[in-house]
Amino acid sequence: MKVLFATSELAPWVKTGGLGDVAGSLPAALRAQGIDVRVLVPAYPALVQAFPDAVEIARPHWLGGLLPTPGLKQAAMPDGTPLLLLDYPHYFDRPGNPYLGPEGRDWLDNHLRFGLLSRVAAWIGSEASTLDWQPDVIHCNDWQTGLAPAYLQFLPGRLAKSLLTVHNLAFQGLFDHASLFELGLPDASWNLNGVEYYGYLSFLKAGLQLADAISTVSPSYAREIQTDAEGMGMAGLLRHRAARLSGILNGIDTEAWNPATDHHLPHHYGPRRLEEKAVNKARLQEEVGLEVRDDLPLLAVVSRLTEQKGLDLLLQITPQALELPAQLVILGSGDRAMEHAFASLAHRHPGQCAVRIGFDEGFAHRIEAGADIFLMPSRFEPCGLNQMYSLRYGTPPVVRATGGLADTVVDAADQKHGNGFVFGPPTAAALLDAAQRATTAWRDPALWRRLQKHGMARDSSWATAARHYADLYRSL
Ligand code: ADP
Ligand code: GLC
Repeated sequence: MKVLFATSELAPWVKTGGLGDVAGSLPAALRAQGIDVRVLVPAYPALVQAFPDAVEIARPHWLGGLLPTPGLKQAAMPDGTPLLLLDYPHYFDRPGNPYLGPEGRDWLDNHLRFGLLSRVAAWIGSEASTLDWQPDVIHCNDWQTGLAPAYLQFLPGRLAKSLLTVHNLAFQGLFDHASLFELGLPDASWNLNGVEYYGYLSFLKAGLQLADAISTVSPSYAREIQTDAEGMGMAGLLRHRAARLSGILNGIDTEAWNPATDHHLPHHYGPRRLEEKAVNKARLQEEVGLEVRDDLPLLAVVSRLTEQKGLDLLLQITPQALELPAQLVILGSGDRAMEHAFASLAHRHPGQCAVRIGFDEGFAHRIEAGADIFLMPSRFEPCGLNQMYSLRYGTPPVVRATGGLADTVVDAADQKHGNGFVFGPPTAAALLDAAQRATTAWRDPALWRRLQKHGMARDSSWATAARHYADLYRSL
């Protein structure tokens, strides 16, 4: 079984969120299942730098529309997974975030940049390919590669099957009608059963409509997105394709995220040396300028600052949360207004609330290890990786019962399996109540140890998910 895993992010080199983490660790787990996986990703500067020895193996041409002729370079990831770099500097040799320009707005040519990525994925899966490796399945991820199934639909000859994994239904890749021509898609694709979506071209809708199978990253999210309330305008289509839709819960990279070996941590610990987690807490408090106190629970957030993550609820309750009493540390970036609101919060509560705006991988690890309680009040959460990192780091999470959070966190009320705190309504009051339950439990060492141990014992490895994906590929 040969699979091309097409992605717009790849940890540890290019990552804005969980998609990067998944792309960085699922392929190796698939290879362990005997699947011949290659990863296709744009040659962003970080990747060009990381793989200076990549060699050009093809130049896909006649791609249609205004799409250019890129190069395809091959390299190998440190774990041995072959990497195909889509080399077109005019599109991808740009600094920073893969989607946004310096002003924080989408690049104006994103339809061409990710259209090219989708088109080249389809080229690799078609008879036009000059590679000596022909994939059976193109595994697409989110809107950025959602157009590949549409291209496959219109190419002649024997073609690979396609799977689209939805990591987040909120990002739909919407562009105007003119892009149809620029992307080299036929007029015949502009309809309800094709790429058209309420007068726009939607990369995501195209993939949902035309992929041979659809998956998403947790069973709960797979159910939720088929409801009008949470389907973000795609519910009808998803219900129509329900027989082809499955939910496969993400795993995590258990090597990168292991408190016993994590090179970002000042001090290592594990389930049998849990008291040593305290060293990380004290160091974290020093690092961010909080009072170094072991008698206060330290609450933490590491997140994109967006509506999705429900952090406006946290903003509403921060004064009360600090009076529980507790300390709070936040690492995040995104929505400018939310960035300002959190920054000014820290300003008002020095020593008790610390906020760092930015993206900092090492700091994220130190927070997971140093905090006592992790907060994830998401409005919706397809899977969520941070709650799994915090479970593994003995930092019980407070989460809203949605998507993958509901599938991974068990409320403390369940004495046998409880590993965190779960609340229902997306309201400030419900979040405060759950945070209060958590800080109260924190003051009961026996109860707390039990929660921590349940979380740390959870199997979050990729093995189970990789088996499910392997079955899905075979079914295609
Ligand atoms: P999403 O993909 O919706 O952002 P996930 O929980 O699946 O949510 O994954 C988020 C990933 O991004 C995690 O690895 C998390 O640690 C990381 N992350 C988010 N924000 C930051 C940040 N400001 N600095 C460092 N890492 C971050
Ligand atoms: C998305 C989702 C997140 C998920 C990640 C990886 O960014 O928001 O819930 O964990 O993708 O699948």
